[in-house]
Amino acid sequence: MKFFIDTANLNDIAEAQALGVLDGVTTNPSLMAKEGITGADNIIAHYKKICDIVEGDVSAEVISTDFDGMVREGEALAALHPQIVVKLPIIADGIKACKYFSDKGIRTNVTLVFSAGQALLAAKAGATYVSPFLGRLDDVSTDGLNLIAEIRQIYDNYGFETQILAASIRHTMHVIDCAKIGSDVMTGPLSSITGLLKHPLTDIGLAKFLEDYKKGNQ
Ligand code: E4P
Repeated sequence: MKFFIDTANLNDIAEAQALGVLDGVTTNPSLMAKEGITGADNIIAHYKKICDIVEGDVSAEVISTDFDGMVREGEALAALHPQIVVKLPIIADGIKACKYFSDKGIRTNVTLVFSAGQALLAAKAGATYVSPFLGRLDDVSTDGLNLIAEIRQIYDNYGFETQILAASIRHTMHVIDCAKIGSDVMTGPLSSITGLLKHPLTDIGLAKFLEDYKKGNQ
């Protein structure tokens, strides 16, 4: 299972990268705005900084909602760096753009997916990644994990190569449950990765080991 971090915060990205388990980054316009990154030039410069920190895929989302605009923006984003994956919303023009990029060998991440039907369309359009938003479904009392399981089944039935990128991850149990279902990738905040380390018995055990070592080596 690949681990992506879902942020535009360079410190969090660097911390996750330093752990040695990071496979990529996802961003979206809200995450860029949260870091105060505004204006085309600054946004482009920020994507380049992210690519300099991580070795894996970096999803960069288009703002256009029409085919021509998405193609123009997506081509410019893809030209920025070989690690860039063009992120497209699951609307009709997004699917058309996905097919266009897929035919040209440009990698895509189809985002804002909330149903198995949307995920099926993304796969048929040749998406590299499909991003079902697990947490946002849970937020409205709908079983987000069930959606991941449905997509897994559909993709396996037909051998689609589109990777399931479980997005809108909120906590460590989401990560573990997605791994059990067979999600190819998860993207979440730094805490959803570092939280996997935590166990009180590890802390107690380590303290005891160090204490016993000290006793025998004074
Ligand atoms: C997906 O790529 C999105 O950036 C993200 O996972 C959305 O998460 P949120 O629901 O926490 O905003």
